[in-house]
Amino acid sequence: MNAAARIAELRLQIRHHEERYYILSEPEIADAEFDALMRELAALEAAHPELVTPDSPTQRVGGRATDGFASCEHAQPMLSLDNAYSEEELRAFDERVRRALGETGAVPDAVAYVAELKIDGLSIAVTYNNGLLVRGATRGDGVRGEDVTANVRTIRAIPLRLHGDPSGPIEVRGEVYLPRTSFERINREREASDEPLFANPRNAAAGAMRNLDPALVATRGLSAFFYQVVMVSPSDGQAPRDGARDAGVEPDQTHADTLERLRAWGLPVEPHWHRQGGIDDVIAFCREWEHTRRTLDFDTDGVVVKVDALALRTRLGATSKFPRWAIAFKFPAEQKTTRLLRIEVNVGRTGAVTPYAVLEPVSIAGSTVSMATLHNADDVARKDIREGDWVIVEKAGDVIPRVVGPVLSKRLPASQPWVMPATCPIPPGCGSQLQRDDEEVVWRCLNASCPAKLQRSLEHFASRGAMNIEGLGESLIAQLIAGGLVADFADLYSLTAGTIADLTSASTRGDGKVITRRVGDKHAGKVLAQIDRSRGNEFWRLLYGLGIRHIGERAAQILAGAFHSIESLLDATVEQFQDTDGIGPVLAAALRHWLDEPRNRRLLERLRSAGIRMEVPPEERVARAADGPLKGQTYVLTGSLATMTRDEATAAIERLGGRVTGSVSKKTTAVVVGEDAGSKADKARELGVPTLDEATFRARLDAGL
Ligand code: IVH
Repeated sequence: MNAAARIAELRLQIRHHEERYYILSEPEIADAEFDALMRELAALEAAHPELVTPDSPTQRVGGRATDGFASCEHAQPMLSLDNAYSEEELRAFDERVRRALGETGAVPDAVAYVAELKIDGLSIAVTYNNGLLVRGATRGDGVRGEDVTANVRTIRAIPLRLHGDPSGPIEVRGEVYLPRTSFERINREREASDEPLFANPRNAAAGAMRNLDPALVATRGLSAFFYQVVMVSPSDGQAPRDGARDAGVEPDQTHADTLERLRAWGLPVEPHWHRQGGIDDVIAFCREWEHTRRTLDFDTDGVVVKVDALALRTRLGATSKFPRWAIAFKFPAEQKTTRLLRIEVNVGRTGAVTPYAVLEPVSIAGSTVSMATLHNADDVARKDIREGDWVIVEKAGDVIPRVVGPVLSKRLPASQPWVMPATCPIPPGCGSQLQRDDEEVVWRCLNASCPAKLQRSLEHFASRGAMNIEGLGESLIAQLIAGGLVADFADLYSLTAGTIADLTSASTRGDGKVITRRVGDKHAGKVLAQIDRSRGNEFWRLLYGLGIRHIGERAAQILAGAFHSIESLLDATVEQFQDTDGIGPVLAAALRHWLDEPRNRRLLERLRSAGIRMEVPPEERVARAADGPLKGQTYVLTGSLATMTRDEATAAIERLGGRVTGSVSKKTTAVVVGEDAGSKADKARELGVPTLDEATFRARLDAGL
């Protein structure tokens, strides 16, 4: 057999076994045999690089880590679902559906539904073209999401090529999730390397999907289920449609057909879906799964109930947010009672001091709960939760356990109302007076050098999502602070292996004996190498790691992409921040405030002297043509354009060598005025700067002027 034929055969075999393993959980061969097939394919492809194709199973992890995700538009908005929390609300939904369908005739006695488990993950839209996976996108705001194709390709349950190579573009939608077994493995690994644990599989899955390094995503063990087909017409440019008309296949009549078609294409479909004759059967299904769901290897937070006949769905339509033909029944949060042993407070990195409950461990919703949030001091007072009380604790699928309230009948007569400590708790706080603004419910420690705040800030700085300094975890940070070696981020960069190695930690053994342990040369060497490596991190990691209020990972990436360096951020105005897509007024103000603070400026100077990268290297910046017909010209965009997004308009101007800025001045070449334009259009007129409407702007772009 020649190489090409063997390669084709191996790819089919590998996909078959991936499907058996990752979708059906019924492997037919041992892992070692599967690995041997992969190795044989990789060797053949190495010898015949011209035969490598993007749908080969060897090509799941390709390309390198990026600086951010491109935004992309959905062919059809990704809607959300209306919720029902009780049997009555499910019956009310059924009633609405039957009434609406009966408007033009008799109200039907019963409507057939499909009941599916609601997967507690992240929605995903995957596009195939002529059977090949071409794009994976997150939901985003429903209209625009992020292009996460490289990450989606690493998910082994998702085929890189559909069976039967259906022609034209096809978009399928579903949910990416992290199986519980993978979740537990990841948390065990994180615990061993002293990294913060993920609260639940959903957070871990979201973290993985938004990771910029596909090689790392591949190690996470994500999986997926699909439940929707959105057809994109191949050539006629008509509005996209539900169903299967354009894929060169017979259209689906029902949702059940769609699920079967998804499966036939080789896509994973959650197998417990069931067609129900009416709402009574749907309710029985919900009741059954409320209990059985713990046996599954993934988290489900409810049941999605969908009208089965696609023709009826079309008649029911959708509101701007939800389809009228579906509803999500949410399982009730599980509750247990247990003893509240103590109320302690936690100091966050912004100085927020919040109470939490230390509980007698109790098993709820599949995990052991020994701590629960108490939200804030006002909440504790309002519910009158006291130390020593029996309390009701609740845990819903994806949230942190919380104390619902005390069981008053079991209260001990000697109990006392709880009071918030007046000072920042020692240890690990600083003892300064806590304060709060009149309107705020949060108490804060305002001491800028509070060791508890410093501890949390350093943990954040070193975390995987930020500067990613492996081995610099909670306990080592505590030792560095206690030893007076680190008082801010910059101090980390003057540590030596010797000083780290000599640090000691004390812990109390079960028999009460205190033992001290030295960090040692090996661990110190590793941590120091990690600290050193972090100097060259992408600029957004530093921006995120600094812990500026409201700046999360995503905002940091947007800011780095738009401003490129710390200098340009320092020079920019609040308006310019705000004019950046994805940056709102609160964030813009917080950033400006932070940058204006003299001690933060000093910190930035010290970080720079320590050799930390504070810019996006020129070759990685979004290309602006150095030369072009718009060279030397500056444009301002205002209002919304009907035919293109702000990003697209900016890119178009930059491709022609022009610049786009946020505010109008006499130097502005022209202001492009879209729908609902505000003060910038007025300012342009005031200053005599020309304005362009969308049509004129487009015509100029098309002419390359
Ligand atoms: S149908 C037009 N089916 O739940 C509505 N959604 O709370 C399409 N989800 O955004 C959604 N499992 O991400 C549907 N079996 C399922 C689902 C499911 C999980 C998610 C989905 C949706 C969210 C709404």
